[in-house]
Amino acid sequence: MYREFKSPLTVQLEITSKCNHRCTHCYNYWRSDNSIETTLTEIDLIKIMENLRNSEIMQMVITGGEPMIFSNLLIKGLELAKDFGIRCSINSNSTLVTSEIAQAIKRNNSSVLTSMLSFDPDKHDSLTNSRGSCARLVKGIKMLIDEGVSVGVNMVVMKQNLYDVYKTGSFANSLGVKNFTSTKVCPSLGDNIFEKLKLDKDDNLILFDQLLRLKNESGIDVDTLTAYPSCLSQDWNKYGKFLLGRSCSAGKTFCAIGSSGKLRACVQHDEEYGNAITEPITSIWKKLGKWRDGSLLPDKCKKCQYLYLCGAGCRATCQFFGDIKSLDPDASDSCDFKPITDEKNKIELIDKNLRLKVNPIIRFREEKFGTVLNTSKSRITVVTNDSAYLLKKLIDRGVFTLDEIFCDYSLNIESAHKFMSALYSKNVLVKEDLSK
Ligand SMILES: C[S@@+](CC[C@H](N)C(=O)[O-])C[C@H]1O[C@@H](n2cnc3c(N)ncnc32)[C@H](O)[C@@H]1O
Ligand code: SF4
Ligand code: SF4
Repeated sequence: MYREFKSPLTVQLEITSKCNHRCTHCYNYWRSDNSIETTLTEIDLIKIMENLRNSEIMQMVITGGEPMIFSNLLIKGLELAKDFGIRCSINSNSTLVTSEIAQAIKRNNSSVLTSMLSFDPDKHDSLTNSRGSCARLVKGIKMLIDEGVSVGVNMVVMKQNLYDVYKTGSFANSLGVKNFTSTKVCPSLGDNIFEKLKLDKDDNLILFDQLLRLKNESGIDVDTLTAYPSCLSQDWNKYGKFLLGRSCSAGKTFCAIGSSGKLRACVQHDEEYGNAITEPITSIWKKLGKWRDGSLLPDKCKKCQYLYLCGAGCRATCQFFGDIKSLDPDASDSCDFKPITDEKNKIELIDKNLRLKVNPIIRFREEKFGTVLNTSKSRITVVTNDSAYLLKKLIDRGVFTLDEIFCDYSLNIESAHKFMSALYSKNVLVKEDLSK
């Protein structure tokens, strides 16, 4: 049902399960049992990193637990990722930033996605169960930004902070962060507090409205990290950014590796398929077939005309409610609707005289069915091998206009114009001056 990649494109590596916070909402299902706290040894970290390189992983996130507790391990991971050509970012609560850590992040071209739960320090501290954590977070963000590190803020949204999204985003913006994501709280498997935290279906629209207002008023990049069902709302004109093309990537292009090396389909899911310290990731990956062959999808979604834009929401959430194959609780009872618009399918044609070049940070990975292009953390595009060959030629060429290449490579103007415009919208092609 989904394309069979030879290995994941993106991996989240939990270098430790240990954390200095006890967040009420944290999805880490192991957190209630301190006795099973584990941390990778440096030798095992190196083995996993070599495994990631050998399996051609394109990007990774170092996470935990709290990865900054073990700064030596974190810095080693960053250095190896850079040496191995793997794009790497960090998820952290940013309360333990030191100048050594900030400098290492900058030096290794990494970035940080940090958790903030409210602009209100008392509320933030009560949700992290750590007094003073908001003040330490603000200090950490400032240290990172002063060092020139790109920082994004992720706010996990639950009943307790639903109406704080706009103000928290504005606060993050005032600190100089680059982007703000609001992510609906998801359950921790085996937990029983979720009923008190979870958003109702309509609460998600309250969340989206605040993000859209924030974007309009401040210009900061906003998004959500949630794999929403597209049928949560039929107003795709207004909410399409959050609802379309949000397919969950667990087991399809993504997996998590825990602090004992065990590989899982998703950070929220506890099923283990093998150990990345001792087994090639490419072999373990083959065992995750059920995540991509459609067998975990509800029958209703398998027949839905919008599945290609959707992905049927979050399977781990469905498992928490009793059946991994059930309809996502945020999905509509009927997928037989006509959306208000289908923004996602509109490609704006670019000016054929625009001076362009291939994005200099592009990476290529060959698959049986074509070539994967990766230009940033969230940008994955698959093209045919012929198109990848053309892009490599265009890299050698440097700057070009579409008019020039239509002629030089005898391309069909109409289809090539659409294709190149799509590549431009996906940041594979950029304006000449942007790439300088
Ligand atoms: C588990 S944390 C680990 C890294 C670090 N300790 C932190 O809090 O950023 C990774 C990410 O998951 C988010 N997160 C934690 N619990 C969540 C939940 N129940 N639902 C959605 N996101 C959650 C955090 O905000 C953070 O962005
Ligand atoms: S800081 Fe991160 S890992 Fe620690 S409890 Fe909070 S969300 Fe979980
Ligand atoms: S019915 Fe299923 S596949 Fe269709 S839009 Fe809703 S969640 Fe997505």
